[in-house]
Amino acid sequence: MRILFLGDVVGRAGRRAVIDALPGLRAQLKADFVIVNGENAAGGFGITEAICAELFDAGADVITTGNHAFDQREVLSYLEREPRLLRPLNLPPEVPGRGSGLFETQDGRRVLVLAPMGQVSMHPLPDNPFLAVDRELAACPLGEGADAIVVDMHAEATSEKMAMGHFCDSRVSLVVGTHTHVPTADEHILPGGTAYITDAGMCGDYNSVIGMEKDEPLNRFVHRLARGRFSPAMGEVTICGILVETDDRTGLAQKIGALRQGGRLNPAWPDF
Ligand SMILES: [Fe+2]
Ligand SMILES: [Fe+2]
Repeated sequence: MRILFLGDVVGRAGRRAVIDALPGLRAQLKADFVIVNGENAAGGFGITEAICAELFDAGADVITTGNHAFDQREVLSYLEREPRLLRPLNLPPEVPGRGSGLFETQDGRRVLVLAPMGQVSMHPLPDNPFLAVDRELAACPLGEGADAIVVDMHAEATSEKMAMGHFCDSRVSLVVGTHTHVPTADEHILPGGTAYITDAGMCGDYNSVIGMEKDEPLNRFVHRLARGRFSPAMGEVTICGILVETDDRTGLAQKIGALRQGGRLNPAWPDF
């Protein structure tokens, strides 16, 4: 199975680029299943039902989020109604929505998607993501309950994301980091057969501070002054993601490759 994962979509520019490119990417990369992190799709903060509809229409099978999941108030009821939109997994049970889901490819193969959130420098502090993932994997093991399993580890610390990779090694197809909005160069297959990357990178304008117009972040870092609000940068977008090919017999990864297309970053295209 070929699974395409796109990192955090930032603002209108990121959204437009992903919606325009995804049908072509899906076909060119022969992706059987597509996951998009959409936590910054609505003006940099959260996501709405209308944006989800556009992403689903463009070819996303599942949309994950993160700490910005609930920034748009209207999404609370939508999270209850739409199983393809995931909020962070390791939150109290009374929080609306779900942090995991079992989905099907068009030809009926089952994909479990988990969306844990890290605890390091994350506010408000979620529950232990490792124990939450462990419970999900016990209930739906790879090769039994699911033909492929993807873990979107939404976290600030590279260490915590790597730890999640090793924690899941041999038990899931892919652990992909999100939230830090910068693609890392460590995509590889762990010893037990799980594909791993610390950060997929954002789908946004990299002439920015993690996707936001530079002026206000600089005000705050340099002058310690908030002079305005954060707004997403609107320049040319680099679409960043990761493609994984799994062995349908075991669900483990055989190949992993980075995707970077458009905008300012050096391009990358999976060679398989
Ligand atoms: Fe993000
Ligand atoms: Fe985030």
